[in-house]
Amino acid sequence: MYTRIISTGTYLPEKVLTNDELEKIVNTSDDWIRSRTGIESRHIAADGEFTSHLAEKAAYKALEAAGLVPADIDLIVVGTCTPDRMFPNVACLLQERMGITGPAFSLEAACSGFVYALTVADQFLCSGKSKRALVIGAETMSRLIDWTDRETCVLFGDGAGAVILEASDKPGLLYSDLGADGQHRKLLYTETGLSNMESSVEGHLKMKGNEVFKVAVRTLESMVDKVLLENNLNKGQIDWLVPHQANLRIISATAKRLGLPMDRVVVTVNKHGNTSAASIPMALDTAVRDGRIKRGNLILLEAFGGGFTWGACLLRY
Ligand code: COA
Repeated sequence: MYTRIISTGTYLPEKVLTNDELEKIVNTSDDWIRSRTGIESRHIAADGEFTSHLAEKAAYKALEAAGLVPADIDLIVVGTCTPDRMFPNVACLLQERMGITGPAFSLEAACSGFVYALTVADQFLCSGKSKRALVIGAETMSRLIDWTDRETCVLFGDGAGAVILEASDKPGLLYSDLGADGQHRKLLYTETGLSNMESSVEGHLKMKGNEVFKVAVRTLESMVDKVLLENNLNKGQIDWLVPHQANLRIISATAKRLGLPMDRVVVTVNKHGNTSAASIPMALDTAVRDGRIKRGNLILLEAFGGGFTWGACLLRY
């Protein structure tokens, strides 16, 4: 038994925060942000709009694109590090609102959350336990941000992307590889969580950006080397790279390692900044809907994030 992605969907909150507007909040400039990251704007969830609301809207877009209704789904897996609450998990909140039955859970692997979620859902489907999964990456990163910290607040944004993954007798998802290394935990983290809560600390995201940059590039380069080797692929043989959208310079380094020109890389980071687990399904949806990604294309999804965690999925779309 194999699995394949049958449809995709995206939701971005209405409110857009541009680099020019950020210049009024912290000591930064459009030129600095663009040249260091490629980011031009990001979307910010409205008051009362939570991760599950973004996820639900992306899920309905994916269902609509597949011509399916919620009752056709029997598994929900959500990658998120910004859940509405600890429990019910985001997938259970969606299940109740959308009227879906079957297992429903969220997993937390920061920016790698979607590749982790897709890999886990694939295993449920390949084992025959489920038939059709809603796999979502959804985040409200704006809620973790210290809006006085120029080193982080310019980088992140909110959004959600969804795919429907279906059991299939033909291979779609061909290979996946997940990794983690907790030893760099102090380079990218939140100050508190629910079990480690200090009332004097607000729990913001903290990052040593230039050190994260170096480990990210190094880790992604060795991961893509492994993907090529283990799948007997030569450089340049992948049709589309759909990377986690954190920083254009990290994306370009990975593309170079794969021997791909930038016109075979899906880049959306300029429009929404780093949306953590949401970025890959949103980028995939963008390129599917604008016709760049076509059925039969060989696609590599790859991510790196807090933990550190990382992962890659190679698929025939
Ligand atoms: N606007 C203007 N200047 C800024 C700034 C901002 N928003 N943020 C930092 N600076 C300043 C720094 O204070 C520093 O000033 P100094 O030289 O006077 O000390 C200078 O810019 C350079 O800082 P540095 O951190 O070395 O910049 P950089 O070239 O490494 O770029 C990042 C910073 C964060 C853009 C880059 O390191 C990065 O993208 N890292 C990876 C982050 C990431 O993707 N994390 C998520 C992984 S999933």
